[in-house]
Amino acid sequence: MAHDYTEQDKDHLLNIPSTKSYPKLSVRRLSRRADTGDTILSNLSFDVFPGAVVGIIGPSGSGKSTLLRALNRLWEPPAQTIFLDGQDVTKLDVIALRRRVGMLFQTPCLFEGTVSDNVRYGPKLRGKTLEDGEVLALLQQADLDSSFADKPVHGLSVGQSQRVALARTLANRPEVLLLDEPTSSLDPVSTQNIEASLLKLCKDKSLTLVLVSHSINQVQRMADVVFLLVNGQIVEIVTPGELENASHPLARQFLDAS
Ligand SMILES: Nc1ncnc2c1ncn2[C@@H]1O[C@H](COP(=O)(O)OP(=O)(O)OP(=O)(O)O)[C@@H](O)[C@H]1O
Ligand SMILES: [Mg+2]
Repeated sequence: MAHDYTEQDKDHLLNIPSTKSYPKLSVRRLSRRADTGDTILSNLSFDVFPGAVVGIIGPSGSGKSTLLRALNRLWEPPAQTIFLDGQDVTKLDVIALRRRVGMLFQTPCLFEGTVSDNVRYGPKLRGKTLEDGEVLALLQQADLDSSFADKPVHGLSVGQSQRVALARTLANRPEVLLLDEPTSSLDPVSTQNIEASLLKLCKDKSLTLVLVSHSINQVQRMADVVFLLVNGQIVEIVTPGELENASHPLARQFLDAS
């Protein structure tokens, strides 16, 4: 397995518990400034291991979405700051990267056509036609029953559209899924079903999740480790059980208000 980062970089690793040897994702000294000079992300370094769920919480404007967008190059990170299986993501074909590192946005954006058309889209780009059974299995993973397959997407609710977007992303068989407040438009039952479905994929297929959520409860249900991001900095890394006892003053302020 290729590892572009150096031995010295290990000094900058944050200590995230894992039983696996190689990180799926590694971030090394990732920073970003806005054109105004304001810091958006400040010297972030961490590893995410295969099959793990990292929860990211923090106040609005703290850089959560910017970090997620860097991980699949929706914002182009500097070279040698983000590695997938040890390879610098800026050296990878961006389309292939986005297939391997899928993203689900807070607001779904679907293509014209039916639910099936959307789910089949990614594999079709690679010359693969999903069979009906495969489409239905993907819909089920996204908590949609088979009656949705032939429905046009324009009549769907936001929550239904979000689940179609999830099925469409899962159709690419991503290795990493970036979730930006994925269930904020879903009802509690659907939220629970999707959480269960994603956790099953982590367990069975070693899907790796990076989950941004404003729901502390969701993060506690899903994450193996939680990063508290404040002003572009990871100010605290805790297990979900330790979240209540986070000590950084800005983290405390955020948690007490949540
Ligand atoms: N392209 C950009 N140019 C300049 N500033 C930006 C850009 N994108 C984001 N920012 C700024 O970076 C900061 C972090 O934004 P980001 O969207 O990552 O925050 P967030 O933690 O996801 O917030 P929220 O919880 O509201 O979604 C904000 O101050 C935002 O205004
Ligand atoms: Mg955001």
